[in-house]
Amino acid sequence: MVIGVPKEIYPGERRVSLVPAVIPNLAKAGIEVVVQAGAGSQAGYPDTEYVAKGAKILPDRAGIFHQADVILQVLCYGANDQNGADDLPLLRRGQVLIGFLRPLGSVETVQKIAATGASAFSFELMPRITRAQNMDALSSMATVSGYKAVLLAADTLPRMLPMMTTAAGTITPARVFVIGAGVAGLQAIATAHRLGAITSAYDVRPAAREQILSLGGRVVELELETAGAEDQRGYAKAQDETFYQRQREQLGRVVAESDIVITTAVVPGRRSPLLVTADAVRSMAPGSVIVDMAAERGGNCELTRSGEIIVEHDVTLVGFFNLASTVPYHASHMYAKNATVFLLHLVKDGKIDLDRDDQILQETLLTRDGEVVQSRVREFFNLPALQKS
Ligand code: NAI
Repeated sequence: MVIGVPKEIYPGERRVSLVPAVIPNLAKAGIEVVVQAGAGSQAGYPDTEYVAKGAKILPDRAGIFHQADVILQVLCYGANDQNGADDLPLLRRGQVLIGFLRPLGSVETVQKIAATGASAFSFELMPRITRAQNMDALSSMATVSGYKAVLLAADTLPRMLPMMTTAAGTITPARVFVIGAGVAGLQAIATAHRLGAITSAYDVRPAAREQILSLGGRVVELELETAGAEDQRGYAKAQDETFYQRQREQLGRVVAESDIVITTAVVPGRRSPLLVTADAVRSMAPGSVIVDMAAERGGNCELTRSGEIIVEHDVTLVGFFNLASTVPYHASHMYAKNATVFLLHLVKDGKIDLDRDDQILQETLLTRDGEVVQSRVREFFNLPALQKS
């Protein structure tokens, strides 16, 4: 079996899907690796390192798609909404594609991927079970992004984060408020705490409370009924507008007292809830910073501009997405580790049996033989259920 690693083509993307260190593990399972020339160079992995670990370098993209049984990418068409479609003609029936595909993004996109006949596996659909934790690339990228969000904010803030007692007087610590304590939010809490900020956080899922405390964060309590806020898969459920209205009002008071606000609140397949109003932004001290990690999905802050950094009411609003790509060495390392465990899980006796009775395989397999086959995705887009063959 041959795995192909094309260069990422999303504008500005610096990650690579496979790093040299994992190649020997794949080789042990009889898997060969072909890498597009320069695929890892922006992440700090030159071609020579891939060759040293036993991979073959091919000069052109089409050659990778032609030779490989499995194409491993970071941002495939779907997740890459800029130029990802360029790869569709290179895919062939029965070829396996693995990466981020944004399966709940647009039905037309998912159907176009299906129409290639490729068997596409989406990391976004990884089940949240203990067994799959070391294959969960989405969580790895969220970890990197949460860390980077705090560094960006600290770099922009005109204040220092830790308390300091100096001959020039005492510097009071900055106050960081994290809204949404999922994987990215928890890493943001940990990073801000390590930098010495007074860090507090809020999440609708009551289970997040213990995790916030364990990382040195303070839990912000709001008067909201959140007992049923978590679905069976561990994600937040969408709430009604009355709930969000009350939440915005109460959060506004905490936002006003914060130097940095990091928002990460998302609800799968939906626009991100609006949690920080323009009034709340106006109430912050001049120089404060908001990093809106939900920017790609509409943003948690009313004033966020997706993909941009702007200043409104003397507050800097960071709406960058794809933050993981700005730490490409470790983001690629983590992605490659998760992808390798996933690949070795899929491959048995040198091939991938798509009919195997396995929860991880079945839940991540998005398309096959020209159809969208993932039942939850079909349901989400109101596609009729498929007949079992
Ligand atoms: P996510 O990326 O879907 O959402 C980010 C956070 O925003 C979540 O914690 C969510 O509860 C929160 N949120 C949504 N609406 C909100 C609102 N109105 N106000 C405040 N917060 C709001 O979440 P993520 O990062 O995927 O993690 C969710 C949970 O799943 C976490 O407990 C995480 O530890 C768990 N998880 C478990 C895995 C496993 O067992 N294999 C793998 C990944 C995550």
